[in-house]
Amino acid sequence: MNTKRPKAIERLIETAVQAQKRAYCPYSRYHVGAAVLTGSGRVFPGCNVENASYGLSMCAERAAIYHAVAGGHDAITAVAVVGAAAKPCGACRQVMFEFSDKDTQLYLVDLNPSTGRRKIVKTTVFKMLPMAFDPLASGLLPKNPRNLLKRKASGRIRTQSARARSRRIR
Ligand code: THU
Repeated sequence: MNTKRPKAIERLIETAVQAQKRAYCPYSRYHVGAAVLTGSGRVFPGCNVENASYGLSMCAERAAIYHAVAGGHDAITAVAVVGAAAKPCGACRQVMFEFSDKDTQLYLVDLNPSTGRRKIVKTTVFKMLPMAFDPLASGLLPKNPRNLLKRKASGRIRTQSARARSRRIR
């Protein structure tokens, strides 16, 4: 275990490792665990949950984020994903982006189930989704977007046309 990582991040990763064991994936047999660390230090787990109607399956990352939002937390500080060569899919990147700011960390934990060895790559949600569809830049600022307002206050640049558009709809 890398002792250089903060305790909260170790807890986040352990939560994701445990969540992976609860994955319901009888169809793909690809087990994924995730966990989200909120601004207030809470950690919420998620795992992939599949369905016989395949398209209804839910990824671990989105399950963890929806879990956090349902618990009243809409700003995320860090996310961990655990799986074989774990990397969030495009849909999960966009959902993580919604609740992230430029500093939100993303830990990709490649866990080898036979040896228990972990390879951990640290990146950020924003880096994993370049040229994201950004609700702020698009002028889609909803009425009660606490998480987005926080990101706005942290100085993200909005385009001229987006500003004009949001003025029109106010
Ligand atoms: N899956 C995740 O949970 N997270 C990802 O980032 C990629 C894919 C799940 C969905 C499905 O249950 C299984 O992995 C195979 O695609």
